[in-house]
Amino acid sequence: MSIRVHSPISKITLAALLATALAGVQFGAQAGAQSAAQSGEGPDAKAARIEAQMTDAERMSLLVGIMPIAFPGSKAVIPAGVPPTAGYVPGVPRLGVPAQLATDASLGISNPGAARVGDVATAMPASLAIAASFDTGLAERVGATVAQEARAKGFNVLLGGGMNLARDPRNGRNFEYLGEDPLLAGRLAGHAIRGSQAQGVVSTIKHFALNGQETLRFYADSVIGEAALRESELLAFEIGIEIGQPGSVMCAYNLVNGHKACGNDHLLNTVLKRDWGYKGWVMSDWGAVSDATFFNAGLDQQAGSQLDKQVWFGKPLEALIAAGKVSQARVSDAVRRMLRSFYALGIEQAYKPQAIDYPSNAKVALEAARAGIVLLKNDGVLPLGQAAQSVLVVGGNADFGVMSGGGSSQVIPSNGKPRYVNGDIGDSSTMFSRQMLMPGAPLAALKAALPEAKFRFSSGYSADTAAAYAAQADLVIVFATKWEGEAFDSATLALPQGQDELIAKLAAANKNTVVVLETGNPITMPWHQDVRAILQAWYPGQEGGQAIADVLTGAVNPAGRLPISFPQALTQTPRGALPGIGLPERTPVQVAYEEGAESGYRWFAKTGQAPLYAFGHGLSYTRFSHAEAGVRSAKGDTALTLGLTVSNDGVLAGADVPQVYLVARNGKPLQRLVGFEKLVLQAGERRALSLRIDPRLLADYSEGGWRVPAGVYTFAFGKSAAELGPTFDVTLSGQRLKP
Ligand code: BGC
Repeated sequence: MSIRVHSPISKITLAALLATALAGVQFGAQAGAQSAAQSGEGPDAKAARIEAQMTDAERMSLLVGIMPIAFPGSKAVIPAGVPPTAGYVPGVPRLGVPAQLATDASLGISNPGAARVGDVATAMPASLAIAASFDTGLAERVGATVAQEARAKGFNVLLGGGMNLARDPRNGRNFEYLGEDPLLAGRLAGHAIRGSQAQGVVSTIKHFALNGQETLRFYADSVIGEAALRESELLAFEIGIEIGQPGSVMCAYNLVNGHKACGNDHLLNTVLKRDWGYKGWVMSDWGAVSDATFFNAGLDQQAGSQLDKQVWFGKPLEALIAAGKVSQARVSDAVRRMLRSFYALGIEQAYKPQAIDYPSNAKVALEAARAGIVLLKNDGVLPLGQAAQSVLVVGGNADFGVMSGGGSSQVIPSNGKPRYVNGDIGDSSTMFSRQMLMPGAPLAALKAALPEAKFRFSSGYSADTAAAYAAQADLVIVFATKWEGEAFDSATLALPQGQDELIAKLAAANKNTVVVLETGNPITMPWHQDVRAILQAWYPGQEGGQAIADVLTGAVNPAGRLPISFPQALTQTPRGALPGIGLPERTPVQVAYEEGAESGYRWFAKTGQAPLYAFGHGLSYTRFSHAEAGVRSAKGDTALTLGLTVSNDGVLAGADVPQVYLVARNGKPLQRLVGFEKLVLQAGERRALSLRIDPRLLADYSEGGWRVPAGVYTFAFGKSAAELGPTFDVTLSGQRLKP
């Protein structure tokens, strides 16, 4: 490949961007085509009928997408009226096939390089925060809201559904994903996609697969055994695809077991299309294609093609067809896959731009930000209540807003002008190179909630000055931020820019110190015993400032749970050093996932280590107790149902997230989350919960399918992976399941 910088978008020159406004733009299709549903014809039949009427040139035109943004060296021709965005594929107007107009992504509608001048969107919290809600309904509402904005802006494909399992707490894109557990990530991704597609917008699920780090992401080879792969990353995708039925799967930049993910016959043809019977289309990530033979390996579309060395799915693919190496049937198959995904959602014509009710969508962003906040520690100082007299707020730009993550998922918020700080990469794309703070100051929200208190703010630039102020205050709230983003990883888990030292000094000066974290990953906390409370707010989106204040003051009872383990140190994780970090671009590197499927909390269980904060952990301002844990039904093994009674024993309403783990099989210890549910309970309320267990979570992948071994299964309900209640057993007779 000719150019391989950190990311495709880093090649964008802002001056060269098209500043095309969206208003009034129509793409491709003829209006008024009869929908598949209206005619009673199913999406597959309609796709086959329309595809059969295409010319070869029309078929080929659907196999290649561009990024409709002009940047130096790009040979792509951008048709008039197409707005700058992530992806464009021409339609076939004569057959009523609309153009594919794609936008990023899960956190809201992006606007690459701010090229659509003045176009904003509702900036949702990071997906990791959505994962922390453990709330499938919320994931669906967020997915629906984002897609509704996509549609109202004229887009019909949402490049959302990011869900690579967090295997390394240094991965710069973990904030875009849904944590470390296959069941949690798969269910939440599936529901987010379901919510999006219900708006008539195709969603992807991405990045297929094992895109576990950003360092050397085009050159990193993720190496893992087949069983471990199926039981971890692929299980997450499988569950997500079953629930969400995404119209498209986006394959990844990295290699998997020696083959590029987008040209990986095993992943695309064998697993996705054969074993799972996936009917939608596989699009490449932008710049992930390096050969026309990827087409036979299962890739249906070369997306963002000008970021590749050349258009492979044009002339080179035609040559393979002419030489008989690629069949016409395969071309038809690829085209039908795209059409059926569109027809399944009733997308028959271009979407006209419509007004967006941003204030009402902001309420969804606020609900999500509140739900994603995890109270990690609280010795009773929170909620603040009206008693606090003088409060010192320090750091994190808390007088302005909240941190956001960088890269293609970044959203220009609808609630005001963002602030950009600290760029240190020679790159004109602010999305990738500079920290963006979303407006909406936690400080202002705190002042409004606690009108009797006297507030003082210190930037924290000088730790000594801030500590001197701290000594004079009743209470200190320190905001710590860590910027992360696409195309780079963190070398360590430490907070940057002296923030650990700042917190330590504040805690030494004032024993009532509360820490609020805005980070995209777990961090280490050398000061955690010296502070009274710690709140993990992730990148909380444009309504995050308000949400943080709501939780601190008790207007909202926190209910978030960690979707990712917080290690005490990197030495507790499977890889001390991040493979390839510091090496020059284009250096091939192996990322050996020797921990197999036993990553995250499973790794802690397997190695007998105690994390700093465990997967599933999160405190509340009320108290929950669990009783009557046990088997509710075990008919024929496939219908194993486990149950629990949950009580809210406190005086406040709140939400609990009981989790049930498989902790041993035939006496052999292991740990797997097999069920969870978020329950909202009034003070004093008691509720019985039943969870049906997916047999794949009990199984091993072996000999081409799932095998649930016969024997005794030991389970425990818990408040986190490390805080488990009494165990109970069930004997299963064993079974085999399809892959
Ligand atoms: C990212 C994808 C994104 C695409 C289009 C790539 O850099 O990896 O997640 O959808 O760009 O913007």
